Amino acid sequence: MSATIPEVAVTLGVNGVDHQLRLDPRVTLLDALRDAVGLTGAKKGCDQGACGACTVLLDGKRVVSCLMLAAQGDGRQVTTIEGLSQGGDLHPLQEAFIRHDAFQCGYCTSGQILSAVSLLAEGRAGSDEEIREFMSGNLCRCGAYPNIVAAIREVAEAGGSR
Ligand code: FES
Ligand code: FES
Repeated sequence: MSATIPEVAVTLGVNGVDHQLRLDPRVTLLDALRDAVGLTGAKKGCDQGACGACTVLLDGKRVVSCLMLAAQGDGRQVTTIEGLSQGGDLHPLQEAFIRHDAFQCGYCTSGQILSAVSLLAEGRAGSDEEIREFMSGNLCRCGAYPNIVAAIREVAEAGGSR
């Protein structure tokens, strides 16, 4: 006989809009974003915290959303790749990734870009070595690393993210 686990009420602010959800308390932030909120930009790669494909910003700081429970985001603000553009204008990092051809299949790209947004805010993009070190949690199976570093460096040299 399996016991039913009661749902919990969770209010997630996602890209500036509050979502009142009722969720199984075991649901991860990644699954809540994809299945309950309907935003599929954050990708499920390993589902174990090892690849970075699910990276989003929580209150402005990067987190791997597959390792967080949605309930931990209650009352907090999440930014996903869908929320980065403003008024139809792509974020400077999105533009730089396109300009530098910093993706192939694109599966890792939303995580890479959100991690890079955080990296710039943290002031950790002073050199290619630093960028590589602090982006090391975001894997790219297509091996687009040199282009990813070039895109981030360009935005960092231009004064960073908005
Ligand atoms: S899917 Fe979350 S780190 Fe890989
Ligand atoms: S572009 Fe394919 S995994 Fe990074």
